[in-house]
Amino acid sequence: MSNRKLLITGGAGFIGSHVVRQLVLKYPGYEIHNLDALTYAGNLENIKDVEAQSNYHFIKGDITDADFIDRLFQQEQFDGVIHLAAESHVDRSIKDPLAFVKTNVLGTMNLLNAAKSIWQGKSEGKRFYHISTDEVYGSLGAEGLFTETTAYDPNSPYSASKASSDHFVRAYGETYGLPYVITNCSNNYGPNHFPEKLIPLFINNIINEKPLPVYGDGNYTRDWLYVIDHARAIDLVFHKGVNGETYNIGGFNEWRNIDLVKLLCKQMDAKLGRNPGTSVKLITFVKDRPGHDLRYAIDATKINTELGWEPSVTFEEGLRQTIDWYFDNPQWLARVTSGAYQEYYDTQYEK
Ligand code: NAD
Ligand code: DAU
Repeated sequence: MSNRKLLITGGAGFIGSHVVRQLVLKYPGYEIHNLDALTYAGNLENIKDVEAQSNYHFIKGDITDADFIDRLFQQEQFDGVIHLAAESHVDRSIKDPLAFVKTNVLGTMNLLNAAKSIWQGKSEGKRFYHISTDEVYGSLGAEGLFTETTAYDPNSPYSASKASSDHFVRAYGETYGLPYVITNCSNNYGPNHFPEKLIPLFINNIINEKPLPVYGDGNYTRDWLYVIDHARAIDLVFHKGVNGETYNIGGFNEWRNIDLVKLLCKQMDAKLGRNPGTSVKLITFVKDRPGHDLRYAIDATKINTELGWEPSVTFEEGLRQTIDWYFDNPQWLARVTSGAYQEYYDTQYEK
């Protein structure tokens, strides 16, 4: 497994940065290229600690640029692709769906075409790993879990674009013999999470004593996984997964939003030295997200039994480590919440 040349897309984002760090440090014999357009969600600060490693290379570029992607693949002749680059926020997809089609569908197509072109007739040992989401399965009622055979039923422009890209990856496998794997993961949380998403947004608002905007009645349920455990799963699937297979990844850790927010408030009060019960007073029920999926929950039995993966961190512990990270990195939070972030916040929450 030495001397492998890998392309990781979206490695300056939340999950991608943890994947880059794990692989760069664990596989010194690999050549790891991180391609990222550095959109509002991409931040080189996320991977500053590994940028000097000799097996790491950064390329600034856009996956929607087909000519650029073709040239890059021809020049570098990658052995493997781990594709994370995407527009990832559901609320933004409701405001600007086309941006999601461009990056998530067309961008993925460009990568598939480029990989197909360089691997045609010599695909032994090559692998296209597409990172997807549990949102492609739509919404569960009170019972049941998503398995790898659950029918796709996406409800938001974001999940529709991810579902579409998953279908194209599978189609390239069936039609052209492209060696691929896909994983569909539940909600991640942890260090470097951009504060447009629930947990980091609420951490930031609690610090600043701002309202905590809970959508609808707060009874929506998500399955939360610590991002470092997701990165471990990605490493495992990339190296040990079977071509043409899909693996669901989840935390076995379902929380109703309102209960999660109360736990977060409790931990934040303790961290800030505020009286217990201070931060829950910031909870404000606001207008619901259109098309809001009621419940996601993953059955991660397949990756557990076939590849031996399981989460390593409990939610309470992971949340504590996450909160600690935001307190230890106030300048990161200050920088990402300056400028355009404020504009987004005011529009989303109708200030
Ligand atoms: P993110 O928004 O934090 O990061 C996305 C990264 O992709 C950024 O660095 C951004 O600059 C880059 N990017 C965006 N458009 C690009 C383009 N056109 N060309 C090149 N780079 C571009 O996202 P994330 O939360 O880290 O998610 C990463 C992947 O994992 C996505 O594919 C997402 O669908 C999937 N996923 C996320 C979660 C989650 O809870 N965050 C769960 C399951 C799956
Ligand atoms: O399930 C995997 C998905 O998880 C990923 O594919 C997405 O990229 C990722 O963004 C995440 O999607 P969600 O929509 O579930 O995450 P978000 O953090 O935006 O919201 C989590 C829940 O909290 C959801 O029910 C909406 C609610 N919410 C969110 C925000 C930002 C609020 O109540 N208030 C808020 O301000």
